[in-house]
Order: sequence, then C-alpha cells, then structure tokens
Amino acid sequence: MKLFDVYPINDINIVKAKGSYVWDDTGLQYLDMYGGHAVISIGHTHPHWVRRIEDQLNQIAFYSNSVQIPIQKELATKLGRLSSKEDYQLFLVNSGAEANENALKLASFHTGRKKIVAFSKAFHERTSLAVAATDNKNIVAPVNETNNIDFLPFNDEEALKNYFQTYGKQVAAVIIECIQGVGGINVASNNFLQLVRNFCDEYKAVLIADEIQCGYGRSGTFFAIDGTGIHADIYTMAKGMGNGFPIGGILIAPHIQPKHGMLGTTFGGNHLACAAALAVVEVIEQEKLVENAKEVGNFLINELKTIDAIKNVRGRGLMIGFEVPEEIKTLRKELLFQHHIFTGEAKPNVIRLLPALSLEKKEANEFLDVLRETIHLLNKQPEVAISNASTGFRNHKS
Ligand SMILES: Cc1ncc(COP(=O)(O)O)c(C=O)c1O
Repeated sequence: MKLFDVYPINDINIVKAKGSYVWDDTGLQYLDMYGGHAVISIGHTHPHWVRRIEDQLNQIAFYSNSVQIPIQKELATKLGRLSSKEDYQLFLVNSGAEANENALKLASFHTGRKKIVAFSKAFHERTSLAVAATDNKNIVAPVNETNNIDFLPFNDEEALKNYFQTYGKQVAAVIIECIQGVGGINVASNNFLQLVRNFCDEYKAVLIADEIQCGYGRSGTFFAIDGTGIHADIYTMAKGMGNGFPIGGILIAPHIQPKHGMLGTTFGGNHLACAAALAVVEVIEQEKLVENAKEVGNFLINELKTIDAIKNVRGRGLMIGFEVPEEIKTLRKELLFQHHIFTGEAKPNVIRLLPALSLEKKEANEFLDVLRETIHLLNKQPEVAISNASTGFRNHKS
C-alpha cells in the first residue's frame, strides 16, 4: 500500500531528537528552529516528559470518558494556574482542528446563532467549520462551503465597526489568531483586539482566541492575547500542549455552561495524553520557559532587525517571521540542506521561526551566525555560495 501523497516532503529521515536538535539516519545533526511545526515546546524528548509518559504507560494508557479520570483534573488544575485561568473550564481533544471545531460549535450552542467572523489570512485547519473559517479557497471542499462565515480584513477597525453595526445580533463568535501563523506572522494590534472584545461584549458574541500556534508560552506570555490585557471567552490549544504527543483542548469561560452530550470524544483526554500534557505544564513552570521565550525571542528579533538583507522582521517571543527578498530566495533551502537548520515558511517569501521555548541564547547565536554567513555568500555570488556552503560551517555529526 502507498501513502496518500498530500505532503511535499524533504528527503530527510529524522531518527533522534534532543532539546533543540534532531539527527537524521546518517548521523547528521540539525538545529530545529521550526520546532517540528511549532509543536515542540519544552524541547525534544525532555527527560521529565519521557518519564511521565513511561510511568503512565505502565499504569494505564486509555479508558473512556465514561469513568473518573483524575489525571484530567490534575491537568486542569495545573494548567489553570499556569495560564491564570483558574475559573475557566477545560475540554480535552486530540488536535487543533478538533479544538477549533468544538469551540465554534460551542459558541453557536451558547448563543443560538450561526454567524462566525473570521479574518483575512486566517488559518484554523481543514475540518468542516474550521476550514470554512480559514482564508484559503484551495483547501475548502464544496461540502465545506457555507454562508455562515464572514471574512473581514485583519486589523481593519473600520470594517469591524461597519460589520457589527449591521450584523452584530447574528454573530455567534469571532475567531482570531492574535499572531497569525500560516498567514505569515501577522500581529493583531491592541486597538483592534480591544475593539473585537468590545463588540463581542456589546452584542453578546463569543470571542475565540485560536492560540494553537501562538499560544502555550510561544509569544512570551502564556496566551498571545494575554500581552494585550484582553481576555477571550474560549482559548483553543494544541501544538505545544503535548510537546509532540497529540493532545488539544479548549479553555471555556465560566459563563458558558456545559450540558451532558453537548460535546464529546472517544480519545480526547486519555490518560497517556494527559500525562504528556502534565509534563509539559510542569516543565514550562519549573524551567520558566515562557520567560525564556520572551528573552531569547527579543534577542533574536533585535539581532534579525540588524540584518539589512532581510525585511520586515516581526512577531513576539519565539514566533518570528521575516521576508526574504527575491535575490536570496533560496535562503531557506540553503539553511536546511547546506547548514542543517530547519525553519518554517509562509508563502510566498516569509521564513517563520518557531523553535522550542527552551531555545538557548547560544543556539540562537548559532542560527544567527549561519544566517548572516549564508546571506553574505548568497549576495556575493549565488553559485559560489552553494558550492562553498556544501562544505558546511561546522561539524554536524552527532
Ligand atoms: C492557528 C492554527 N489553528 C489550528 C491549527 C490546526 O491544528 P492541527 O493541525 O493540530 O489540527 C493550526 C495548525 O497549524 C494552526 O496554526
């Protein structure tokens, strides 16, 4: 049987990982500035995470949500403390798509309304409601098409005002990434978020912060929206929550009441996933990784801004984007194949940095040195760059 060929893949087989590094099957070491797609939060194979999962596996991996699962409550308590959302309620799922799908559905149940407001360049995933709220026609199948979602321009206060004045009473939810990931690291302004909050209050709509990529400490505050002092009614989470173990969740404000049967899942909140998520919360707290993301992120952003050849450096914490001009458009491939550094991208020309929250300053410097050198060579003479670079700047063997 063949795999369903939907991913354009690089011909690299990663077999080992530790902290901010991974190794391929030939022993080559790579610096992971991509965090396996913003998923690695506390660092690859963190010993506490490995131990917690191993211990749990020896006890029980799964039983259904029809019985008491105390480890879910333990996770809710510790996550409530870490996120300062002690009064919120936690519903556990398996992925970001499920988190958004359930959040949107819950908002509709809660308000009895149908309209969802989403924004230009938003990405909320590929399942039916989530993809309908995603601004990319190529991934919306005919069956996903709906008139219930309205897209407004991101950060456009006037458009938001006009929309709410006309349709406000029909709006179930506004869903927003405070820092858009797939869209290219676009940061929502404080004024815009405040206006979204005000309109949601005035018209009793639910504000959903999609924190799947920008949340869980990545932006240097636990949730990206925390930095603005504005609260959401529902926070959706996944990626960094399990450090690679599949788990997602939604945090639900106390005024949104549950009803038996309203939401449900077979695998969501299973013992093993909760053990992984607990390890992540514990390590984030103990190792002060939110603070680290802020400090190392600020350092990286400031240094990147001094490199003339790249443009429009933006982001917060360890969620950083910059534009790569046409003359050096092979930069990302050079970094990966010649210098063994993983980065992310956003079409058409943005490099996205989404490393582990535990990234050390010396690893950030390692990245910056290679970046500067690669840009220098590419600017000098592209052909020379490729042949020189193939010798590598450092020893990549494990
Ligand atoms: C902002 C945002 N929302 C939702 C998702 C979907 O998460 P998952 O792939 O776990 O379903 C992603 C994934 O990239 C994302 O970046």
